[in-house]
Amino acid sequence: MKNFDFHNPTRLVFGEGTIENIGQYVKEYGDKKVLLLYGKGSIKRNGVYDTVVKSLKEAGIDYVEMSGVKPNPVLSKVRETVLLMKKEKVDAIVAVGGGSVLDTSKISAAAYYYDGDPWDFYEKKVKPERALPIYGVLTISATGSEMNSGGVITNEEEKKKWGWGSKYTYPRLSIVDPSVQKTLPKNQTVNGAVDTITHVLEEYFDGTKGTLMQDEFSEGIIRTTMVSVKKLIEDPEDYEARANLAWAATLALNGLNGLGRRGDWASHGIEHSVSAYYDIAHAEGLAMVMPAWMKHVYKEDVDKFARFGEKIFGIMEEDKEKAAVMAIEAYKRFLQEIGAPVSLSERNIGDEHLRAMAKNAMLRGPIGGLKKLHEEDVYEILKLAL
Ligand code: NZQ
Ligand code: ZN
Repeated sequence: MKNFDFHNPTRLVFGEGTIENIGQYVKEYGDKKVLLLYGKGSIKRNGVYDTVVKSLKEAGIDYVEMSGVKPNPVLSKVRETVLLMKKEKVDAIVAVGGGSVLDTSKISAAAYYYDGDPWDFYEKKVKPERALPIYGVLTISATGSEMNSGGVITNEEEKKKWGWGSKYTYPRLSIVDPSVQKTLPKNQTVNGAVDTITHVLEEYFDGTKGTLMQDEFSEGIIRTTMVSVKKLIEDPEDYEARANLAWAATLALNGLNGLGRRGDWASHGIEHSVSAYYDIAHAEGLAMVMPAWMKHVYKEDVDKFARFGEKIFGIMEEDKEKAAVMAIEAYKRFLQEIGAPVSLSERNIGDEHLRAMAKNAMLRGPIGGLKKLHEEDVYEILKLAL
């Protein structure tokens, strides 16, 4: 296990009926005027918007709105958001939605205090020295963005879908009310589960030895997610399943699971390049890419893949190599069972841009922790994913 120093400053408020207190929380911290940031309108259809607005009004919080953040959020929207925030001189952001809205709030919060282009943070041309406070109201559990500092934005002109974060961009407080997620379409619930499991696996299969505590923790998150998503496919209104999936998703990427590990994150890197070319859901890309990545790298740590098979799928095979291959097949079958796409062709992606996507994944250098991947490796993985 590697050394670590852990601090996560986000206050997390969890449970049914908690969104109606958002105004009080904002007031408690002394913020008077906020930007209310949200997506394409699901919150207007399921009542979350009304609950938030009522709560802000009752607490005497002034607000201006920015809507229309799209899945795979884009830089042009960030620029528009920052302009509005500067014009309106807001004290904080209330971000209501999923990872896309939360991620847009993070770069915007930092860019509020910066005169240059927000993308400069992503290019590492400049580091933020502060950021506006963010209050998150989560409506889909998937990314863990409600309790981490990261944000993924697509620079649509330059075809770069990149992640970035700083110690100033953790939400100050996030509310997770699992009950508002019952209006999610089935595929979005599935996406949340796949993203959660992939976040865990990105740290689990990284080659670091001596992380028994973390491994057991990871396996617990994966099993909980698998059980919960299956229940939710049967009954989208099952509150306990929603609550368990939501908590698992937060724990998968709030920092705890990665402690003492180096992390791999190649599957995310490759998925981001696929998304830079094709506007598919993040988790769909992960479901296509990760089994192919597994096939390409499992020989680097056969024992860990065999352990994964045993702990998650009950595979008791003495030949470790065989067990590892069986584990990868079992994982792929699970993804298919819950309706996730496991090949690029299922989203009409052919071989036209494989080389370009492999190059795109290298824009910030080689990727991966278990095995360092170069352009040729990524190209091979994408071919396996076809
Ligand atoms: O836009 P609206 O109308 O709100 O609809 C959204 C959107 O279409 C809908 N939705 C959300 N809550 C709903 C709902 N529909 C009905 N009922 C509800 N309660 O769901 C759709 C997807 O929303 P989105 O925010 O895009 O989903 P998600 O949370 O999966 O976020 C994906 C983005 O986060 C990035 C991804 O790359 C992608 O851009 N990631 C962010 C990370 C982070 N910040 O740590 C890490 C992840 O690995 C990931 O890369
Ligand atoms: Zn992810």
